[in-house]
Amino acid sequence: MLNVALPKGRLGEKVYQMFARAGFECPSILEENRKLIFENEERQVRYFWVKPSDVSIYVERGAADIGVAGKDILLEYEPDVYELLDLGVGKCRMAVAAPNEFRDPTHRTLRVATKFVNIARNYYTSKGRDIDIIKLNGSIEIAPILGLSDVIVDIVETGTTLKENDLAVFETILPISARLIANKASFKFKNEPISRICESLRAETEGTR
Ligand code: PRP
Repeated sequence: MLNVALPKGRLGEKVYQMFARAGFECPSILEENRKLIFENEERQVRYFWVKPSDVSIYVERGAADIGVAGKDILLEYEPDVYELLDLGVGKCRMAVAAPNEFRDPTHRTLRVATKFVNIARNYYTSKGRDIDIIKLNGSIEIAPILGLSDVIVDIVETGTTLKENDLAVFETILPISARLIANKASFKFKNEPISRICESLRAETEGTR
């Protein structure tokens, strides 16, 4: 049985359709209910829905053999897993955003509010910019409005959240997309189904690019 951790939500549903087209369907997953685990004995596959930021924890510890996680999560938490494939979905970018009139106050430490402490630190270290990180867990956009920080480092998809809070992208840090990841031991001992699914998904993503 191949255990697959999928990110709960719209991205996960899209990704499940990709897995189904690759031959790992599990029709019961489409039923309207609040169950979190679904399996298809015949296809030897078991799916479970987890919080997107938790997928890599399940995979790293082997509770899931494979999973789908955003590149943002992989860069932030650096889980000890194999990154097998860029699925080309869930595309967005990690960016520095600030009020429209923002100018970098280069004479002093920059205050940066973010959920992505590691990504923000690495980015500013590479630029040699001195920063003070303020770790928040959500609603990051509020921080510069209330004077808690100068800028934020966050995910931007459509840009609507920034716009509606009178913020704008100041710098793009990197593009983000969903990745297929595998537990290292599973990759060795369940290599056949994992490689099969990876190659089917690769063919599918290349066809849509
Ligand atoms: C992310 C991010 C922004 C929003 C950007 O939040 O933190 O708030 O999406 O999307 P947009 O550019 O399309 O407006 P997410 O919905 O992932 O949830 P979160 O509040 O847990 O960060």
